Amino acid sequence: MGGRGRNWLWTILWLVIIGLGVASSARGQDLPAQIFINNEVYSTDIYEGVKFDHSGHAINLSIACKVCHHEWKQKETKTPGKCIDCHAGKDAEGIPLRDAYMNTCRGCHSNLKLEGKPAGPTRCDECHPKKKRIRSN
Ligand code: HEC
Ligand code: HEC
Ligand code: HEC
Ligand code: HEC
Repeated sequence: MGGRGRNWLWTILWLVIIGLGVASSARGQDLPAQIFINNEVYSTDIYEGVKFDHSGHAINLSIACKVCHHEWKQKETKTPGKCIDCHAGKDAEGIPLRDAYMNTCRGCHSNLKLEGKPAGPTRCDECHPKKKRIRSN
């Protein structure tokens, strides 16, 4: 009698473990590891694109997807899309694309720095060096 009850417990435990494994590998698939943020609208502007360690932030630092993909309804759409989908360009109304990135990325780093915690870069050239220009004269 007691033995049979214990078998059920083991079965349930294994199903839970397998379930967790499937869930986490599914999440892993939808998470690009490294992203080079380099929007076309800024191709003639002053700064280079930005190297972004996406999985480093989402997984190693455990920052919730929602912190950056703030409008993402994960149950409705498979991917969060790009920031430019809603922050429609450099001169757009509302929050322009540049400010969307800067307030999110630099904003978090600055706050952490103020609190004396480990933070990412806040200096302009640490995220995006200036493009080298050909002198016109
Ligand atoms: C610290 C900020 C941050 C966190 C946390 C974060 N992401 Fe992202 N993610 C980004 C940025 C920035 C991009 C690039 C968006 C762009 O190009 O405009 C991106 C892009 C993506 C893309 C590609 C979208 C596309 O259409 O190209 C997917 C998929 C994605 N993230 C999934 C996730 C998931 C899942 C999580 C949580 C486990 C997560 N992200 C957490 C900032 C973040
Ligand atoms: C589905 C649409 C949508 C997507 C995708 C989206 N945003 Fe937004 N975001 C909004 C809306 C709506 C607001 C409200 C302000 C406005 O009208 O622009 C906003 C506001 C913001 C704000 C200002 C928040 C505040 O109160 O200071 C930041 C910063 C921001 N978004 C960053 C991002 C970043 C970074 C991404 C990409 C990782 C992103 N957003 C993707 C719709 C979106
Ligand atoms: C919610 C807080 C938060 C947000 C949002 C965030 N970061 Fe960070 N970032 C951190 C922390 C914390 C570190 C790591 C500090 C350490 O451990 O030294 C970091 C480190 C970095 C570094 C240096 C290490 C590395 O990964 O190369 C870069 C570059 C960086 N972040 C870029 C970005 C960019 C670009 C964005 C926006 C797309 C962004 N971060 C959004 C918190 C954040
Ligand atoms: C934590 C990272 C980070 C820091 C620090 C940062 N930025 Fe950015 N910035 C970004 C990201 C991401 C983009 C979007 C890049 C793209 O799409 O090409 C961007 C884009 C821009 C753009 C529009 C692109 C261009 O070439 O004109 C300007 C202007 C800009 N930043 C100015 C600044 C200034 C000024 C500072 C310093 C006060 C600064 N940024 C610091 C992440 C950062």
